[in-house]
Amino acid sequence: MAKGLIKTLQWGVSLARNALITGRPFLLYLKPTARCNLRCDCCNRWQSEDGPAEELTLENINQLLGKFWKAGCRVLTLWGGEPTLRSDLSDILSAAKAIGFRTAMCTNSYLLPRHGEAILPQLDVLLCSLDGYGSKHDELRGTPGLFDRVVESIELCTAYPSCHPKIWASIQRDTVDQVDDLAYLAQRLGVGIEFFPISLIAGYNDEIVPPAGHLETAFGRVIELKRKGLPITNPDRALQIMRTGASFSCNFPQIAISVDHRGEVYTCEDPAGNQLHGWGDHQQFEPGEVFSSPEWRQVVTHLKQCNLCRLPCMVELSGSIMRGLASAFVSRKLWRSWLPSGG
Ligand SMILES: C[S@@+](CC[C@H](N)C(=O)[O-])C[C@H]1O[C@@H](n2cnc3c(N)ncnc32)[C@H](O)[C@@H]1O
Ligand code: SF4
Ligand code: SF4
Repeated sequence: MAKGLIKTLQWGVSLARNALITGRPFLLYLKPTARCNLRCDCCNRWQSEDGPAEELTLENINQLLGKFWKAGCRVLTLWGGEPTLRSDLSDILSAAKAIGFRTAMCTNSYLLPRHGEAILPQLDVLLCSLDGYGSKHDELRGTPGLFDRVVESIELCTAYPSCHPKIWASIQRDTVDQVDDLAYLAQRLGVGIEFFPISLIAGYNDEIVPPAGHLETAFGRVIELKRKGLPITNPDRALQIMRTGASFSCNFPQIAISVDHRGEVYTCEDPAGNQLHGWGDHQQFEPGEVFSSPEWRQVVTHLKQCNLCRLPCMVELSGSIMRGLASAFVSRKLWRSWLPSGG
């Protein structure tokens, strides 16, 4: 117990050091694969032609995790593509846990009922994507039965108390009126839910992007439901930005660093998956040198006004980093999802 507490405190202090003192990334976003098993209406990433031969090996991943840990990264988020398509996913996660990372994964949940036993014990936070309620979700993701698999995956987590599932619910043109259904679903399942608007990928998802008026209505309702006590975990400030479309000062390029399935290090990407600033291959990447370089400072400053995406992680830690972290630590639900499980 005391050992777990000391480990947690050390982890929190080193995260705060990077977040608030050195101003360097503490979040590492890794795509273990670009492959995807779905063809969603909102997202074009399934069009990547890269297969397993183009992907980082487990050994490469182990090496880069060690490098970024030394540089102060403390939270690893896996996404993609669909991370559950990696057959060695549980090895990747256990390597990250052994180093000390708090682990999170964003998934479409299709494969989780089958592989959850190997994956869920290694995760601190499971972000389950939902684009709509019931058959609407299945329709938007072209996959009958997918909604039920998401629900089953969340229920499976109850067997793994250190894994905290959360729903990541996109708002699309056709799902503006499903906010209540999704929020009450989260309440029934006993999990948190975060809403966000789908961003435009020009020429791909133009028809499903909700117009400003729809967002005003949908996020107005989200705010009302949060006030009523539904388990909506977006901070109020983030909900107001999403409701009004107000611009925000993006800290993501300062607090996060990304690595794609090929091992290319980059700052972040736009909704279509275009990398905004590439830093070269992970093997040549020297975090200490890059994070203290004038080029990195310039990129971080320049991208503050970018506003191309509005995923919860970008909006919630925008503006004052101190305030963003404080709100995460004040909210019990967010606190649980930020801290590593003790032990
Ligand atoms: C690109 S997916 C990768 C992880 C996994 N395949 C999944 O679907 O959760 C990561 C997140 O981006 C969201 N997303 C996809 N297309 C988007 C878009 N056009 N705008 C905003 N978010 C989007 C998904 O709903 C998901 O929550
Ligand atoms: S949202 Fe996820 S599941 Fe859907 S196409 Fe994109 S990467 Fe694949
Ligand atoms: S808003 Fe722009 S700078 Fe910020 S994370 Fe999104 S793409 Fe990157």
